[in-house]
Amino acid sequence: MEIIIQPDSQHASQIAARIVARLVREKPHAVLGLATGNTPLQLYRNLVLMHRESGLDFGGVTSFNLDEYVGIPPTHPSSFHSYMWAHLFSHIDMTKDRINIPDGLAADIPAYCRFYEQAIRSAGGIDVQVLGIGTNGHIGFNEPSSSLSSRTRIKTLTDESRLDTAAGFGGHEGVPTHVITMGLGTIMDSKICLLLAFGKKKAKAIAKAVEGPVTAMVPASILQMHPRAVIILDKDAASELKMADYYTWVYEHKPDWQKH
Ligand code: GLP
Repeated sequence: MEIIIQPDSQHASQIAARIVARLVREKPHAVLGLATGNTPLQLYRNLVLMHRESGLDFGGVTSFNLDEYVGIPPTHPSSFHSYMWAHLFSHIDMTKDRINIPDGLAADIPAYCRFYEQAIRSAGGIDVQVLGIGTNGHIGFNEPSSSLSSRTRIKTLTDESRLDTAAGFGGHEGVPTHVITMGLGTIMDSKICLLLAFGKKKAKAIAKAVEGPVTAMVPASILQMHPRAVIILDKDAASELKMADYYTWVYEHKPDWQKH
């Protein structure tokens, strides 16, 4: 794993944007895996700016989102569909038919999940998967105890995750109980995994995911098995890492050709 510790989320998000932008420039038909939540907002803002100011072209790019709530329409203000259009898709030149977000209203959910997996394969697989992390160590919505080789499927949310998103649904009771999420196996098939985490609230989950054992109880810990996992943190999210000084030294002494 490459652990990059930055003074704040702004610097961290700039590095993440450079990684995504370089891919899109080098591979105009790149396949992006996208996440929602507060964490990637600055990354998306940077990509929008790069599109506006330096012509970063998303015309050939395909995207697959990690997850969506079951039972709410895409137009719901707290759906991940609404989030993605509000923060990214409405501001760049991606083609609608290349945008894929799980359909939370699918009538036959298992069949839909198989279709989603097949669509990722048909697109050539995900080049870069953007990830945030839940306070309980989940990625996507793969809650603790998720199979480390799981594929896209329906999951039941933990109370912790429902509390974390209560604000968008008028309180805990209003948060959907189920989601469709890419599995950990699906995420691990991505060529690069780019996990961002900011703030003290994420420090424990990050310490367990990066320096703890690989375990289904901390789903993000599976990234230790990924050949190209890049973990970009602000100081607070990195504050419980035992080897933080080493990661910082490594990043500062990277050979030029390895720099992001
Ligand atoms: C939800 C999403 C995850 C996201 C997590 C953290 O659980 N399904 O993809 O990483 O929230 O959210 P935030 O970035 O707002 O802390």
